[in-house]
Order: sequence, then structure tokens, then C-alpha cells
Amino acid sequence: MYILSGLPFLLATTQLLSVVTCQDEVSSRSKNTPDYISDNALLQATQKANDFIAKLTLEQKAKMVTGNSSAGGGCIGTLEAFPDLGFGGLCSMDGPTALNRADLMSVFPAGLTAAASWDRDLIYERGNSLGNEFRDKGVHVLLGPSAGPLGRHPLGGRNWEGFSPDPYLTGVAMDRTIRGIQDAGVQSVSKHFIANEQENHRSNTFLRNRTEIEAISSNVDDRTMHELYLWPFYDAVKAGTVSVMCAYNRVNQTYACQNDAALNGLLKGELGFRGYVSSDYFAVHAGVSSAAGGLDLNMPGSYDLASIYTGSSYFGGNITLAVNNGSLPLARVDDMVRRIMMPYYLLGQDKDYPTIDPGTLGVLANLYNSYIEVQPMSRDVRRNHAKTIRLLGSAGSVLLKNEKNILPIDTKKIKNIGVFGNDAGDLTAGLTFPGELVATSPEFGTLDVGGGSGTGRHTYIVSPLDAIKARAQRTGARVQYILDNNVLARNDFNSIYPNPDVCFVFLKTYASEGFDRRNWEADWNSTFVVKNVALRCPNTVVITHSAGINTMPWANNPNVTAIIAAHLPGEQTGNSIVDILWGDFNPSGKLPYTIPKNESDYDIPTVNLTNVSTTTEWQSNFTEGQMIDYRHFDANNIEPLYEFGFGLSYTTFELSSNMKLTTLLKNPSAEPNPGLGIKQGGNPDLWTDVVRVVGEVKNTGQCSGATVVQLYVGLPDSVPVGKVVRALRGFEKVFLKPNEKRRVEFLLKRRDLSYWDVVSQRWLIPTGQFEVQLGFSSRDFKAKATLQLR
Ligand SMILES: *[C@@H]1O[C@H](CO)[C@@H](O)[C@H](O)[C@H]1NC(C)=O
Ligand SMILES: *[C@@H]1O[C@H](CO)[C@@H](O)[C@H](O)[C@H]1NC(C)=O
Ligand SMILES: *[C@@H]1O[C@H](CO)[C@@H](O)[C@H](O)[C@H]1NC(C)=O
Ligand SMILES: *[C@@H]1O[C@H](CO)[C@@H](O)[C@H](O)[C@H]1NC(C)=O
Ligand SMILES: *[C@@H]1O[C@H](CO)[C@@H](O)[C@H](O)[C@H]1NC(C)=O
Ligand SMILES: *[C@@H]1O[C@H](CO)[C@@H](O)[C@H](O)[C@H]1NC(C)=O
Ligand SMILES: *[C@@H]1O[C@H](CO)[C@@H](O)[C@H](O)[C@H]1NC(C)=O
Ligand SMILES: *[C@@H]1O[C@H](CO)[C@@H](O)[C@H](O)[C@H]1NC(C)=O
Ligand SMILES: *[C@@H]1O[C@H](CO)[C@@H](O)[C@H](O)[C@H]1NC(C)=O
Ligand SMILES: *[C@@H]1O[C@H](CO)[C@@H](O)[C@H](O)[C@H]1NC(C)=O
Ligand SMILES: *[C@@H]1O[C@H](CO)[C@@H](O)[C@H](O)[C@H]1NC(C)=O
Repeated sequence: MYILSGLPFLLATTQLLSVVTCQDEVSSRSKNTPDYISDNALLQATQKANDFIAKLTLEQKAKMVTGNSSAGGGCIGTLEAFPDLGFGGLCSMDGPTALNRADLMSVFPAGLTAAASWDRDLIYERGNSLGNEFRDKGVHVLLGPSAGPLGRHPLGGRNWEGFSPDPYLTGVAMDRTIRGIQDAGVQSVSKHFIANEQENHRSNTFLRNRTEIEAISSNVDDRTMHELYLWPFYDAVKAGTVSVMCAYNRVNQTYACQNDAALNGLLKGELGFRGYVSSDYFAVHAGVSSAAGGLDLNMPGSYDLASIYTGSSYFGGNITLAVNNGSLPLARVDDMVRRIMMPYYLLGQDKDYPTIDPGTLGVLANLYNSYIEVQPMSRDVRRNHAKTIRLLGSAGSVLLKNEKNILPIDTKKIKNIGVFGNDAGDLTAGLTFPGELVATSPEFGTLDVGGGSGTGRHTYIVSPLDAIKARAQRTGARVQYILDNNVLARNDFNSIYPNPDVCFVFLKTYASEGFDRRNWEADWNSTFVVKNVALRCPNTVVITHSAGINTMPWANNPNVTAIIAAHLPGEQTGNSIVDILWGDFNPSGKLPYTIPKNESDYDIPTVNLTNVSTTTEWQSNFTEGQMIDYRHFDANNIEPLYEFGFGLSYTTFELSSNMKLTTLLKNPSAEPNPGLGIKQGGNPDLWTDVVRVVGEVKNTGQCSGATVVQLYVGLPDSVPVGKVVRALRGFEKVFLKPNEKRRVEFLLKRRDLSYWDVVSQRWLIPTGQFEVQLGFSSRDFKAKATLQLR
């Protein structure tokens, strides 16, 4: 029954019957954002929250700031309803990629894939479709999107849930996703605040003799914090995210969920955040000092998994006690409730919100193997989202190599197709990857999403092999395959005859919450697999489905004529890749990270100390400052295999060497106008347009398609040590027909041209010459200019 429901999508390709090698322009999908972040909307919602608070007893206030897992519904985090007071309760669910622990919902492309598309409209549409599914299921709060981990460690286990190690690209993706989610009337929870860069040691642990080992402490200097890790949270708060989740780790020795400097200082003070700080689940380690340190909502409320239904909490009854014994001001508790209720009114969740899907309870019970007599039917909330998923799956795939014109395949010549690798076929151990914390995925079956809380249950999945078979049938090509990497690694190809005209090798790299990856190469002996296929196949096309960065020791093998980093595309994965291989979609994805020639080119390993003797030994000093990903390669002059921003197309583009710079703000002051105060997103002057940059791009090939024009800025030499060689500060994805030319415009804002001054605690525009460059990647520049503002 489940497999059947996938068939309509598999077959819905009939409109592509004729061989088209040029793609249609994807129409603009941006919507107008409702005015929920205006001062007036905030004021009205705050007023309603105040009226609500006025009716509450202290005990009720304490309940409002404490999750209650007994309050029903099968949600992962629940606030109890007060029906008499017009509050229907809050249901929170994971996560950034799918409505996890539910069914008849969609598994979307991962954040990593969305980032690789560099497509603002598609990123919005992904967020909006996710938001609609949460709303239709009666879920008020979506635990996402993620900008932390940012990607300090290439092998970080949760990098795929977020976007890119570049803070600008991640900032744009946060903005588009948050607006998409909240336009659907659902609360976004931007996470994990902050410097939650590795999974290993992320939480405290207890030795056998009950000695408590504290969670890892991320020790980050002020400038790095601002210019790197905090940057995308500026965008999130500016976009109106109504909630921020504090992380498991410690920051400068203090737990993130009771970190006054991070929560009250950076987030609520400097960024002007008006919503509520929610804890990561079981990340709270104290009551009074958490509330004082800036935590507003304790989720799921209890201490740990063991106490989940007992109701005992650092908050709850202890909030009442703390107010009564004078250790916590009542005004702070009111502030916490106000911050939690304001979004409920702001997004209109007090009116006509759908009830929680009864199926959710059934799925949860099933997950824990508890028997329930009648399994409730779930609501199907997928709408037509398969279309967006298929499109974004293609748009987030990056063509890294394409020699001898192997792609798109020529259906007149290619009549014998080989498909190889354990990532090509259908799932074999159930339609769901481990939702719990498990380090590896099942050996056989394609990988379209990672594991842990950010995964999703598939209702169906279109595997690459199924989609290739369906597509090949139309032109009468045969498909031969071996899906067992052990057979491939021992070089046993006896079943293949004659040798295929083209060989598609599908590799995968799993990652999950709870673990950092151990290997740089793709999983399951992938290097032997590629080597052996290439030995007999001079047209080997390698496709990786990876949760992050891989090394590719086979990249320069002359028989490997094409490489596609297809990331984690979601449930339409097979159709998304077939659209590229057959040329129905012209590849336009660009790498949101750097692929090294050798893993030793990256030099920031995760902390991994299994044997500790002191309780605070898990320390991570961020001594590399801002030098992560391409910033590190640029600063140290290391040649990457494929650089940040790189990606090929089936057509060619030309960027004019003429670039026009116009200063929109004459004689700008160094600092943002202090008289403007603080709004959501910090000082509003940080968002003032200061310089306009205009370039021109042309499609010089035979085929229509899109490219991404990228703008990089190098700060003047007057900036104190620690500055990066250059940083992404603008990008535009442009669709062009053959011979078509288009003007591309970029607006550099004050923040884009500033550095964080640790002395004055301000963003400052430096004196001296900026270097401004336009290009097709972080190393392929076509136009250069200098600029002086002060
Ligand atoms: C949690 O909610 C249930 C159901 O509404 C209620 O009976 C219980 O008292 C609540 N527990 C706490 C600790 O507030
Ligand atoms: C962490 O400590 C560093 C070094 O003292 C300091 O520069 C930075 O501001 C601190 N950050 C926070 C959030 O406490
Ligand atoms: C209050 O906190 C104490 C110690 O942290 C704990 O033992 C107790 O169960 C908590 N009380 C409530 C009502 O949750
Ligand atoms: C007040 O109550 C809180 C919560 O139970 C407790 O943590 C704190 O130690 C108490 N303080 C005093 C001074 O009794
Ligand atoms: C990978 O394949 C090679 C060649 O068959 C074999 O020697 C090696 O043991 C395999 N490695 C793993 C980890 O399976
Ligand atoms: C951490 O160290 C342990 C023990 O040495 C090892 O088993 C594990 O693979 C390491 N984890 C990572 C992510 O390197
Ligand atoms: C490439 O393929 C040819 C067969 O077409 C084979 O003779 C050659 O050894 C292969 N080269 C590599 C590096 O695998
Ligand atoms: C990567 O670098 C290490 C250390 O420099 C070296 O031992 C190793 O051979 C290199 N690997 C490759 C594939 O070049
Ligand atoms: C940890 O300690 C045990 C026992 O002392 C030892 O056998 C093991 O090798 C140590 N592991 C590491 C990663 O140092
Ligand atoms: C518990 O074990 C650790 C590690 O062996 C040791 O350092 C510590 O002193 C022990 N604590 C107690 C209370 O025995
Ligand atoms: C981290 O930095 C602190 C302060 O400079 C230093 O004492 C400590 O040894 C460093 N830790 C590591 C693991 O490098």
C-alpha cells in the first residue's frame, strides 16, 4: 500500500517524454510576507499576552514555562492547555527536514541540500511547505531551522540539518526558511544557540561512581562569535523567528541554557530578540540560574528521560517555590510567560488552529513498541509538495565533473545502463532511518535524509534504481545492476554482460544526531567500489548522497567522467537525479562547502576524550577564529579539490568584467547610528543599504539554465588581525536562455561591510580599501574593484 502511493510520482514524468535538453524557467514563487514583525503587530500581540497573564495564578504561570509530557497528543514537547482562558496548549515537534514521528507527511530535502541550491525562492517554498504540513497536523511549533552547528567540523554529525559553514549563506537560508514556516502560521525555533559544533560530548554524562562530567565547553572569542557563529542568528531574529533553542553544550564554561552573556547579552540584548528561549530537550541543569540566565521555557520539562512522566523539574513547582522564597522575581516569570504567549497571538494560533492529528499518538506508541488496540488513522498533509521536493532535490545537486560530454546522457547512443552501489536501490530495513541515536544506517538502500531527531518517516520513497528503470524503459534501454558493495569491492562483475555504455555508481554517507562522522570517504568501502567499476567502465558517473563533506580519492580517475554531489534530496530522490542525468533539469547547484584534496587539509578535529579524569576536561578552544571552510583554505593558500561556490552546468556562462559600484550612503559613520536603538535584528542601521554593485551575466552556451553569481568582499588592511581574506556577501541565482544577458544587482548593507570591534563592542565600517569581486565561485572571479567608504 505504501509502495503504491509512490507510483503516481514515479510515473508523473509523461510531460517530459520528448528528449528535451533545455530546462524551463522555474517561475518565481516568492510570496508577500504578512506583517507579523511590524512594531504594531508585536505591540498588539504583547497586549493580548499581558491580558492573558493578568488572569493567571502563580502556579499556572509556572506551568506555562514548563513542558508537560503528560498533557497528551503524542507531541515531543507539550504545554498544557487552559481552555477556560482561551489557551489551547502548544504542541512542538521535530524538526528541520520533516515532521518527525508522524506519518502521511513529506520527507523534504535536507537543509544542506537547500543551501546547495542557492535558490532563495525554493528555500522559502521548502520552509512554507514544511510549515503547512505542521499546521495541517495541528502542530504549533516546528523545532527548526538550524544554524548551529554552522559547520566548524567537516564531520559534524548534524551539519546536514543546517545549511552551510558560510554564515552569510546560512543567514539568507535562515531568513527564507523562517518566513516560509511562519507565513504558514507555525512558530519557528531557530537552533542551537550557540557554538553547538560537535555531537561528541555535547551533553554532560555520569561516570559509574556518579561523578558528573560536564558537557563540552565551546570557548569562543567575541569577534569570532559575532562574525561567524552569531551572524545567521542576526538574520533569524530580523526575519522574526519567534523562538530560539539554547544548546546542550557549555559556552565559556557555562551551560548555554543558563548563559547570561549569550542569552541576555547577545540574543535578547544585542539582537533585540522578543520571543522565547526554549531549552534543547533535557539541556537544563538548574532552575533559578537558568531563569535568571535567560531561559524562558524548559522543554520537555522534566530532568531526563527517566523522569519524563513524574512531573519533577528544575522549573514547574520549583518556579513557584523560587518566587515565594524571593530568589526569582515575579516580574521575570511574567516576562517568560509573555515571551511564550506573544507568538501564539502574533501568528493567530488562538484562532481556528487544527486539532492535533490523532495518528501522531499512534506513531509514537509504535516507535516505543507499545501495543495500542486501535491504531488511529493519520491525516495526509502532503498536498502537492512532491513537486517542490523533486525540484529542490535537483537544484541542490552539484555537478562537479563532466568530461567527454557524458551528461546529459545521449539516449540515442546509450542503450545499456549499469547501476552500482548499495545507495541505488530501495530501502530494505523499513521506510524509516533510525530516529533514535544510532551511528550507522542500514547497509542496503538509498539515503535521502540523515538520522536522529531531524529524520522523517517515509510514506514512500522513489529510489534511484526505480526511477532509472522507469526512465530507461521509455527509450528501450536495458538496466543491469549490482547493489551489494561487498560484491563490487571484491571485483566480481560476472553477472554483468555486456559492459554497460554508462555506469552510474551511487555512494552514501550517513550522519546522525548524537555522533560525529568518523570517515571522510563515503561509507561502505566506496573507494574500492568506484575503482572496480571504473576499471571496466570508461564512462563512470559517481553520484554521492552524503550528509556532508567527503574526500574523493577517485575524482581524477580518467574513467570517472562525471561526479554529482547530490546531498540528501528527500523522498523524490530517484526522480531528482534522473531529471539531471537525462537533462530534463540543467544542474545549477553550487557547493555550500569546500571539498579538500586530502582530509589533512582541514585541521580542526572534534574533541574526543573517552577517558577523563577531571569533571571539566571536555574543552574546545576555537583558536582558529574565523578560519573555517574556505576561509581556512584561502588564509593558508591550500588548493582545494572543489572550492566553495563551485558547480558546473550543461551550458556555459560569461560574467562581464565591468562591474559598477555606487555608494548609496555618502560619508558613512563608522558605527551604526546609536540613536536608532535596538529592534529585532539589532541596531536597524546595520541593515541600511550602503553600496550597490551591478554586474552582467550571459548564457553563452546552447542550453537554458541557471547559474549563481557570487559577490565576495575583502576588508581593508586597517582591520585588526583575524580578518578573513574574503567573505561571501551576496549571491543571485539567475536563469538565462541561450544568448540571454541579464543585469545582476547586489545591495551591500552596513553589516556586510563592517567588522566586530571588541573594544567599543560595535560593528564598525573600517577605513581603507575594500576589495569587491564578482565570480562563479570563491576562486573563480571575473570582475574586481576596490572601494573606499571612509
Ligand atoms: C500535566 O498535564 C496533565 C494533563 O493535563 C495534568 O493532569 C498534570 O497535572 C500536569 N502535570 C504537571 C506537573 O503540571
Ligand atoms: C567568551 O570568552 C571570550 C574570551 O574571554 C570572550 O571574548 C567572549 O566575549 C566570551 N563570550 C561569551 C558569550 O561569554
Ligand atoms: C525541585 O528541584 C529539586 C532539586 O533540584 C527536585 O528534587 C524536586 O523534585 C523539584 N521539585 C519539583 C516540584 O519539580
Ligand atoms: C528557593 O527555591 C528554589 C527552588 O526550589 C531553590 O533552588 C533555592 O535554593 C531556594 N532559595 C532559598 C534562599 O531558599
Ligand atoms: C574493502 O574491499 C577490499 C577489497 O575487497 C577488502 O580487502 C577490504 O577488506 C574491504 N574493506 C572493508 C572495510 O570492508
Ligand atoms: C572517539 O574515540 C573513540 C574511542 O577511542 C572511538 O571509538 C570513536 O570512533 C571516536 N569518535 C570519533 C567521532 O572520532
Ligand atoms: C579505464 O577503462 C579501460 C577500459 O575501457 C581500462 O582498460 C582502464 O584500465 C581503465 N582505467 C582505470 C584507471 O580504471
Ligand atoms: C593525505 O595527507 C597525508 C598526510 O600529509 C598523507 O600521508 C596521505 O598520503 C595523503 N593522502 C592522499 C590521498 O593524498
Ligand atoms: C582508556 O582507559 C582504558 C583503561 O585504562 C584503556 O585501556 C584505554 O586504552 C583508554 N582509551 C583511550 C582512548 O585512551
Ligand atoms: C569517580 O571516578 C573518577 C574517574 O576514575 C575519579 O577521578 C573520581 O575521583 C571518582 N569519584 C569518586 C567520588 O569516587
Ligand atoms: C584552552 O584554553 C585555555 C585558556 O587559554 C587553556 O588553559 C587550555 O589549556 C586550553 N585547552 C586546550 C585543550 O587546548
